[in-house]
Amino acid sequence: MSLFITFEGIEGSGKTTQAKRLQDWLVSQGHECVFTMEPGGTRISEKIRDILLDNKNKEMSRFTELFLYLADRAQDVEGVIKPALLANKIVIADRYADSTFAYQGKGRGILERSIKTMNSLATQGIVPNLTILIDITPEVGFKRISHRDRMEVEIEDFYRSVRSKYLEIAHKNPDRVKVIDGMLSIDEIEKGVRELVAPLLQNYS
Ligand SMILES: Nc1ncnc2c1ncn2[C@@H]1O[C@H](COP(=O)(O)OP(=O)(O)O)[C@@H](O)[C@H]1O
Ligand SMILES: [Mg+2]
Repeated sequence: MSLFITFEGIEGSGKTTQAKRLQDWLVSQGHECVFTMEPGGTRISEKIRDILLDNKNKEMSRFTELFLYLADRAQDVEGVIKPALLANKIVIADRYADSTFAYQGKGRGILERSIKTMNSLATQGIVPNLTILIDITPEVGFKRISHRDRMEVEIEDFYRSVRSKYLEIAHKNPDRVKVIDGMLSIDEIEKGVRELVAPLLQNYS
């Protein structure tokens, strides 16, 4: 049996920290575990990541951004996620489809119905067994990653709406999406993550 776990949350919420800790723990328990991140994860995805994260590409249309994230995902699913799941491995993804609904959908105002259709192509219908949403305010997340005191109001508003969409997704998908308070310590969050994952491992051989 395969297992697909994704981490979601705004910048600085602690996704990468917790995804890596979970991977280390699962490997120490003898599980075969594959880590992947969005954007990135494959040779082609790394090139797409460079375009997306290049500060020079400020004029990028929100639709170009959407298509690039979906292209990145399509390649990651085909090249990494699907083969690992077919080989009965555990896959941990640092961001996946919920990011698109939160950032490009709510954040950039692209119609959810359109994203849904295109995302199902990109993911080939592969949905995580468990999504861990680490919830945090934009202020705290921003301070953790930038070491600056204040963020611009516009940016803060953007992350507020992204955060609210994440919480809405969690509310609508209570079986799949579990919310952890990102204000807890790294160790406390790790404990919470393990408590969510442990029951899934019992069915997992
Ligand atoms: N629960 C936490 N409390 C305090 N600092 C944290 C916590 N989780 C992560 N950090 C720190 O915040 C920064 C961003 O964490 P990171 O895991 O990279 O977040 P993300 O991947 O969600 O952007 C890192 O310096 C990390 O050590
Ligand atoms: Mg990260």
